Amino acid sequence: MNAKNETHNGPPCPENANTAADFVVLLRQLKEWSGLTLRTIESRTRGLDRPLSRSTIAATLARDKIPRHHFLAAYVQACGADPSPWQHARARLAVAAAGDGRAHGVVPVQRLPAHRPHLVGRQTEADELRQAILDPGAGTPITVLSGGPGVGKSALALHVAHAVAPHFPDGQLYLNLHGASPGRAPLTTAQAAAALLDALGVVPDREIREADVLHAQLRTRLRGLRMLIVLDNAASVAQVLPLLWTPESGRVVVTSRSSLTTVDGACHRSLGPLSARHAVAMLEGLLGPSRTAVTRSVHDLAELCDRLPLALRIAAARLMCRPAWPVTALTERLANEDRRLDQLSTAGLCLRASLACSTDLLSASGASEDRLALRTFDGLGALRTGPFDVVAAARAVGLPADLTERAMERLVEVNLVDGSLPGHYVLPELIRLFAAERAAVPRRAIVAVEREEPVTA
Ligand SMILES: Nc1ncnc2c1ncn2[C@@H]1O[C@H](COP(=O)(O)OP(=O)(O)OP(=O)(O)O)[C@@H](O)[C@H]1O
Ligand SMILES: [Mg+2]
Repeated sequence: MNAKNETHNGPPCPENANTAADFVVLLRQLKEWSGLTLRTIESRTRGLDRPLSRSTIAATLARDKIPRHHFLAAYVQACGADPSPWQHARARLAVAAAGDGRAHGVVPVQRLPAHRPHLVGRQTEADELRQAILDPGAGTPITVLSGGPGVGKSALALHVAHAVAPHFPDGQLYLNLHGASPGRAPLTTAQAAAALLDALGVVPDREIREADVLHAQLRTRLRGLRMLIVLDNAASVAQVLPLLWTPESGRVVVTSRSSLTTVDGACHRSLGPLSARHAVAMLEGLLGPSRTAVTRSVHDLAELCDRLPLALRIAAARLMCRPAWPVTALTERLANEDRRLDQLSTAGLCLRASLACSTDLLSASGASEDRLALRTFDGLGALRTGPFDVVAAARAVGLPADLTERAMERLVEVNLVDGSLPGHYVLPELIRLFAAERAAVPRRAIVAVEREEPVTA
């Protein structure tokens, strides 16, 4: 232990402890520093949920073991010091005691979902992602894969993660952050860190709930490991940022509907819908040659699904449930714009619910920027198909052009709107129908926005 155990006139520094024995020595020094007797310390903890008895305090101070979380909090506070640096030091020592996986010959962690998605197309995108993971060059070893709802980000990330797994001898971790799970709130950063620690085999200390302690524990546990971590379906920068650090030897892949462009130094890749050829090939692969012999109707079905893998998957599932239906039976139903979203729903998969995850995140964020974006989004349903500029958007939404532009940029950022054409925006058809549907049935949240103070530029 560092010779300088006590700050001048202050309590001892728990950061100086390198072992459990050091830590307990410092706890004894804390008692000396406080000038209190065991009896006084005992009486000072009486009002707490779990008071400490004199005998427990004496026994704990006589052992070379890291004390329990609740003991530490009560004891340090009763001695008149701030418990938080002690809890941090305790977490650090507890993780060190759990040991480095490799040093103790622990079997590598393999937590990628067993199923390796079969991808149609995406060869170039898979090669680029693989390259970004294995050879990040001057950037950080973090890759962000973003794109619109249901374009196939998770499938691509998992496919590539399986392919590069042999490069990571300490294993692979996977965590769904639930930023795109209908009916589920995204994980908090503390929940995410706890889940990763759990996957790493670190016995969770139920009493540690503070996010920053868990994040520190996670970083300590991962130090030096050559591990690939897939953080799937991140909701926002705020959710994912505390989980991202710069691993010296590992790699992190994040998928998100949001572009997460403020994740510094990360390699950013974006994904769009499938090409017409691959969208048709995906339907052919799912439905088989006998149902897809009439190429015109399969092509129409692919286009009515915006060549969006999620919509294609649902359409194929619906046809698989109805073996007697020709493909045209579904394309005719999908041709009716008012019923298209109703048709794109099957057991366990619903396009409308999936799209609603994006708007729900905007309405839950509480930021005025996001409220404005949501209000703008709802207005865009009135636009006709095809590219439009900010003036057309402002007219449809009924807001000044500068505000509309700000909102449109946010919608591009969360990939509800395609902003890849300079000076123009494109709203994918299924998303436009969703916006129109939302505007026709205004939610309470939208009414609330209209009652707000006007947002100024
Ligand atoms: N290239 C592909 N070939 C075949 N199936 C695909 C392809 N891409 C995606 N899929 C399938 O389409 C569906 C949607 O894909 P996925 O969940 O990866 O989209 P996502 O972009 O991650 O969606 P979200 O925005 O909800 O996170 C899944 O069933 C997936 O297996
Ligand atoms: Mg996903």
